[in-house]
This record gives sequence, C-alpha cells and structure tokens, in this order.
Amino acid sequence: MARPGVWHGWKKLVAALLVVANAVHGLELDISSTDSLKNAASTAAYGTMHMYGGNATGAIPGKLPGTWWEGGALFMAMIEYWHETGDTTYNNEVSVGMQWQAGAGDYMPSNWSSYLGNDDQMFWGLAAMTAAELEYPAYGKYSWLSLAQGVFNTQVARWDPSTCGGGLRWQIWAYEAGYDLKNTISNGGLFQLAARLAYYTNNATYADWAEKIFDWCASTPLLNTETWNVADSVGVEDNCTTQGNNQWSYNYGTFISGAAYMYNYTNGTTKWEKAVNGLLGVTLNTFFPAKYGGNIMSEILCEPTEICNANEILFKGLTAAWLAFTSVLVPSTYSQIIPKLQGSAEAAAQSCTGNNNNSCGVRWYTKAWDGWTGLEEEVSGTNIFVANLIANNRTRPVTSTTGGNSTSDPTAGQDDHSTSTKLSPITTGDKVGAGFLTAGFITFWMGLVVWMVIGH
Ligand SMILES: *[C@@H]1O[C@H](CO)[C@@H](O)[C@H](O)[C@H]1NC(C)=O
Ligand SMILES: *[C@@H]1O[C@H](CO)[C@@H](O)[C@H](O)[C@H]1NC(C)=O
Ligand SMILES: *[C@@H]1O[C@H](CO)[C@@H](O)[C@H](O)[C@H]1NC(C)=O
Ligand SMILES: *[C@@H]1O[C@H](CO)[C@@H](O)[C@H](O)[C@H]1NC(C)=O
Ligand SMILES: *[C@@H]1O[C@H](CO)[C@@H](O)[C@H](O)[C@H]1NC(C)=O
Ligand SMILES: *[C@@H]1O[C@H](CO)[C@@H](O)[C@H](O)[C@H]1NC(C)=O
Ligand SMILES: *[C@@H]1O[C@H](CO)[C@@H](O)[C@H](O)[C@H]1NC(C)=O
Ligand SMILES: *[C@@H]1O[C@H](CO)[C@@H](O)[C@H](O)[C@H]1NC(C)=O
Ligand SMILES: *[C@@H]1O[C@H](CO)[C@@H](O)[C@H](O)[C@H]1NC(C)=O
Repeated sequence: MARPGVWHGWKKLVAALLVVANAVHGLELDISSTDSLKNAASTAAYGTMHMYGGNATGAIPGKLPGTWWEGGALFMAMIEYWHETGDTTYNNEVSVGMQWQAGAGDYMPSNWSSYLGNDDQMFWGLAAMTAAELEYPAYGKYSWLSLAQGVFNTQVARWDPSTCGGGLRWQIWAYEAGYDLKNTISNGGLFQLAARLAYYTNNATYADWAEKIFDWCASTPLLNTETWNVADSVGVEDNCTTQGNNQWSYNYGTFISGAAYMYNYTNGTTKWEKAVNGLLGVTLNTFFPAKYGGNIMSEILCEPTEICNANEILFKGLTAAWLAFTSVLVPSTYSQIIPKLQGSAEAAAQSCTGNNNNSCGVRWYTKAWDGWTGLEEEVSGTNIFVANLIANNRTRPVTSTTGGNSTSDPTAGQDDHSTSTKLSPITTGDKVGAGFLTAGFITFWMGLVVWMVIGH
C-alpha cells in the first residue's frame, strides 16, 4: 500500500519561518493540566474525524480510502478519546464503523477479507477489545467483547505448526505476497489480544494461548529474551531462521502491552515482569533518541529521512497508548513511562500547528509543524494526548468482574462460513504460486523492510 504522505516542500520553509508565530498561535499545551490535555486531544480528534469521510454519503463506514486496517487504529484512538474526555460527539460514527466492518462478528468482511493479512484483522480486534475494556456503550449487532473473541478464534485456527514449529503467517491466503513470512505484528498482536482476553474474562484458555504465542516468538529470531531485541519478520523458507531486523516501535509496543496484561492477570509473575522491563528498556532507549533530548518519541527508521508511509506514521501513536496502559497495569513502570509521554505530547503540540488549522506533522521532535498533513498524523496526535490522560488518570481496563459487562461469546467467529477460517492444506500449486510471487521481492523484504502492505 505505502501511500506516501503529502509533502508540501514550500510549506516546510514557511513552517520553519513561523516557529515563533506558531508558539503564539499553536496548539498550546500545559502538560500539568488535565483540561489543557483534553483541549489538545479534542483539537486532534476533530482533525482526525474531519478527515474521516467514512460516514459521508457514498462512503463506506469504517473503510478509509486505500486502506482497511487503519480504520481499526482510528477507532481505537477515538474510543480512548471518548473515555478520557467524555466527549461523545463522534461515538455514533465510530460505533457505526465498528459494526459495519465486523463481517460475521470477526472482522473478516467479505468485501475485503480475501486481501487481508492477520495483522489487518487483528487491529480491529484490538479496537473492539479496547471498547470492552473502557465500557464503551454497546451498539449494534455484536458485543465489543464478542468481536475480539471472533478475531481470536479465527486467528488461532490459522496457527501453523507445519513450518517453524508454529506461528501465524503474515498473510492469510497463500496467493498473497507475504504468505511466506511470519511477522512480529501478527504474532505479537494475537499475543496481546489473547492476554487482554485472559485479563478481561479470567478464562485461562486465553492465557495459555498468550504464553504459547510469546514462547514461540522467543524460539525464533523475532523475539530475543536476553537482549530483548524485537525483529520484524522471519521467512518460512528457511524455517524462520533469517531475521528481518527492522526496528519498529509498535513491534515492541505490542509485546510490552501483552506482557503487561499477563503480569497483572497473573498477579505479578517474574516471567512477565522481566519481559515488560526488558522490552521497555530497549524501547525507551531506541525510540526516544538522546539526540532529541531523550523524551520525544520518534519512529527512527523512517522519520529522519522522511520516508514514513501512512502505516508507519501510526506506529508511535499505537505504541504510546500501549505504554500508557502498561504504566497502569505494571505500576513500577509508571515513573519511567510518564516523562516520555509528557515530553512527546509537548513536542507533538508544537508539531500540531500546520495549515493554520492545527494539522499535526509526522515528526514531533522538530517541535514545529514539519510540512506533512494526513489522517494518520491526526490519529497519532490524538493518541499521544490521550495517552497522557490515560496514564495521569490511572485508567484501569475493566474486567468481567470489575464492571465490564460486554457480552461474552466464546464461540464467536466459528460459524463464519463466508471465509474459511481453517488453513486448507497447501497444495504444490499454492506453494509454487506463492514462491513465484515472492521471489522477485524476497531480497527486498528480508534485506530492507517488511513494508506492511496491510491495506487495500
Ligand atoms: C486542515 O488543512 C488541511 C490542508 O488544507 C486539510 O487537508 C484538513 O482537512 C484541514 N483540517 C481541518 C480540521 O480543517
Ligand atoms: C453515520 O451513519 C449512520 C448510518 O448510516 C447514521 O445512523 C448516523 O446518524 C451517521 N452519523 C453521523 C454523525 O453522520
Ligand atoms: C478518571 O477516571 C475515572 C474513572 O474511570 C473517571 O470517573 C474520571 O472522569 C476520569 N477523569 C478524567 C480526568 O478523565
Ligand atoms: C461492501 O461494498 C458495498 C458496495 O460498494 C458497500 O455498499 C458496502 O458498504 C461494503 N461493505 C463493507 C463492510 O465494506
Ligand atoms: C524448524 O524449527 C522448529 C522450531 O524451531 C523445529 O522444531 C524443527 O525441527 C525445524 N525443522 C527443520 C526442518 O529444521
Ligand atoms: C490473582 O489473585 C486473585 C486474588 O487473590 C485470585 O483470585 C486469582 O486467581 C489470581 N490469578 C491468578 C492467575 O493466579
Ligand atoms: C494491576 O493493576 C492495578 C491497577 O493499576 C494495580 O493496582 C495492581 O497493583 C496491578 N497488579 C500488580 C500485580 O501489579
Ligand atoms: C453495561 O452497562 C451499561 C451502564 O452500566 C449499560 O448502559 C449497558 O447497556 C450495559 N451493556 C450490556 C451489554 O448489558
Ligand atoms: C474459555 O475460552 C475458550 C476459548 O474460546 C472456550 O472454548 C471456553 O468455552 C471458555 N470457557 C468459559 C468458561 O467461558
């Protein structure tokens, strides 16, 4: 997919010249004030929904142009926004979109399901999980919890021990380029979802899966439990021994989040405490570079050279929200995480000063609008302001025994016959086909990057 953001070169110059003016007209943020954080969040959320056309006549609710997965990230941010500010302005559009794309209760809508990767579907499952945990008002056919369960059930049915001893493939279908890869965000995403389902429902089956997925990742170069390096992908052709080691914040964030829920669910076991602390250490060192003062988050692989694609612009916002909940679920991490969220929000506020309408830029560390404009920038801006509210307010996700009343359906998704949820045996034809598709790209993928072609 990789839609490049809109680059207004001349506006960069203007922006640079207007740094002083921005300080006057910009998005003012007093990090110690709840009202100020809410105002900043409200401005970014307005910018987000202004660019969301999904509810307009002729548009499809929840489906953004050129991408499907991003709707899940967008709604996740807006559900958190609603919870922290009490602003219900966008709830109707969010709820309609969340249900519209639900398919048969598992986020495999027939319009798009034949092109999806496991990670695309997973983000919608995490958005639904967030709705359940934050007691987002029930709406429509499927309960938020059952939607998360539907994604879990359809994904564990794709667990694939036939190569590498387990793991989810990146893509769902053998004809998709990338089917030959097992990647961190798909597996780490399902790990997180399983951990959150365990925490919410107290059903040990989900915890067993979380543990199994985490341990499998640790058996491959995806996750190193000594250095706590998190890679991006491995390939099945060599039994998952070759590492695509690009460093993306959300790959770390998804493991930290899942480990934080497991830590809290297990009443503080050492295994998960070690994982949270190890992963957090690398994350804070890597994605809050010392050269920008050490407290401002940056997607280091693409921001300095301004090559972030639309997907990548969303990563640090997702990670910020996951870090905020981690600071609540693992209280010992709070003092480490809070200065990072604060420094990032202060810089982001200075970045959200574009187009004379508070458009957010891509890079927060420039402390001024950097000339980029897009929905993804607005979502990430919303995320960082809301993440501060989550952490400050110690927002604890509810569970089925602490007020959560979203209806459980442990069999959700299992009666979805519109899309096969079981891996059909891979025929030689499939293999040749996939091999053919990927052959031209494999060097690129393994050597350079797994561009998340997760939207169509
Ligand atoms: C801000 O301006 C940009 C560029 O013209 C536009 O794309 C965006 O929709 C505007 N946002 C708002 C909230 O007006
Ligand atoms: C969004 O669309 C739904 C269904 O089409 C409609 O019920 C709702 O009122 C719309 N909301 C807004 C804010 O336009
Ligand atoms: C903090 O959370 C509590 C409980 O969910 C809620 O009542 C309160 O409004 C929240 N405060 C803020 C500032 O979000
Ligand atoms: C599927 O496509 C049809 C035709 O464009 C559209 O009306 C419908 O809203 C779409 N459904 C989803 C879930 O995207
Ligand atoms: C592939 O890796 C798995 C798990 O690491 C291992 O159990 C299996 O023996 C390996 N297979 C081959 C052919 O090397
Ligand atoms: C955590 O502690 C609570 C209260 O003592 C207990 O009910 C629960 O079973 C424990 N959870 C686990 C996973 O051991
Ligand atoms: C789980 O999270 C809650 C809410 O922040 C916290 O009070 C509790 O101490 C956490 N449990 C553990 C074992 O740290
Ligand atoms: C859960 O509780 C809220 C308020 O307490 C209520 O509005 C909602 O309808 C309940 N949801 C379900 C599924 O019972
Ligand atoms: C726990 O979750 C598993 C997996 O979805 C399900 O099969 C089982 O019925 C659930 N148990 C309860 C008590 O809900």
